Amino acid sequence: MRVIGIETSCDETAAAVVSETELKERPWRIDSSVISSQANIHREWGGVVPELASRQHIRDICGVVERSLVEAQIQWSDLDAVAVTQGPGLIGSLLVGVAFAKSLSASLGLPLIPVNHLAGHIESLVVENGTLPKPAIVLVVSGGHTSLYFVPEDNEYRLVGRTRDDAAGEAFDKVAALLGLGYPGGPAIDRLAKSGDDFSVDFPIARITHPDRNDGPELASPLGFSSVLKGRMEFSFSGLKTSVKRHVASRRTALGIDETGSLSAVEVADISASFQRVVVETLLSRTFEAVKWFGAKSLGIAGGVSANSRLRDDAMSRSEALGLPLFLPSLSLATDNAAMIAAAGLRNFHDGVKGALSIDAVASLPLGTHQFE
Ligand code: KG4
Ligand code: ZN
Repeated sequence: MRVIGIETSCDETAAAVVSETELKERPWRIDSSVISSQANIHREWGGVVPELASRQHIRDICGVVERSLVEAQIQWSDLDAVAVTQGPGLIGSLLVGVAFAKSLSASLGLPLIPVNHLAGHIESLVVENGTLPKPAIVLVVSGGHTSLYFVPEDNEYRLVGRTRDDAAGEAFDKVAALLGLGYPGGPAIDRLAKSGDDFSVDFPIARITHPDRNDGPELASPLGFSSVLKGRMEFSFSGLKTSVKRHVASRRTALGIDETGSLSAVEVADISASFQRVVVETLLSRTFEAVKWFGAKSLGIAGGVSANSRLRDDAMSRSEALGLPLFLPSLSLATDNAAMIAAAGLRNFHDGVKGALSIDAVASLPLGTHQFE
């Protein structure tokens, strides 16, 4: 079976063709994966502007889809199904992909498979590395999400922790903007941090021990200890972002630089490294706590921030010490792409997930859910 995947949830217009293989451990093969990034458009504004994003998706979608067929060396008639990101994401952006996928499905007479964007990120782990031993703990960490899932079976996800405020990628982007590093901020901070001193600034690690007014949905407690876990697996990054802001302001004052002036390159690298250390420590302390509590047989880390070199290195050394299999996507599959959507579409198809032509884009779509009509 061969599926075309379409992804337009944020600021990447992407299409990919993925085929099934005979191999149980590596069930999918990427025949093509085309991504048109809008980063250059949004950079000017310091972040994604939803209106501009949806307009650019409209301009790019036809060319991106056609190129995915050319690169896979196939015709329309070689496709067996159309998979598309239904949500979560920016509604105007999602709508372009969903409308396009519905037209393709109707005109070619192919099944339409709605895919949850976060499930796509998780399948990016399987595309290249094979199935995760279960039960698994998976951290999805991106520009819009920082969520920890207990995964007892394929395609079954129980939320055990999530951010109470900013997503980790959002924190990278906001701190990068504060430091004058442009958008997207994650890769810029990652690069600069390599030459910085990660202990030069002692930014705080948020501790969440009490439910508060930001308390979210009831989290999974498969082993019945939700009150013990409350807060231990949740994340918060807005306090860290504020600390960086205060630190930058106080350094500017100390050096007599005005609000528009820059700190030295060395100082910016030191702040980047210190900030990144705290984000990574926050992410991994909760994640490995979850591994322990849930007796996970493997760990997966997916989403744009999983491209972060320190997160990858630290996760690898911690996993190795525990003898725990660690699954990470290659850099090209870490950030938004359509190969992961096509792969998740194949899994959904076999699980009986099929959408009617009336399906709609859904801006807030919890992992594990779809709207079929
Ligand atoms: O998964 P993704 O492409 O889009 C969403 O679904 O949000 O993630 C994008 C996020 C951005 O916030 C970006 O700054 C971050 O991933 N990111 C990184 C790195 N590469 C991308 N963050 C830290 N280090 C990186 N190397
Ligand atoms: Zn994403």
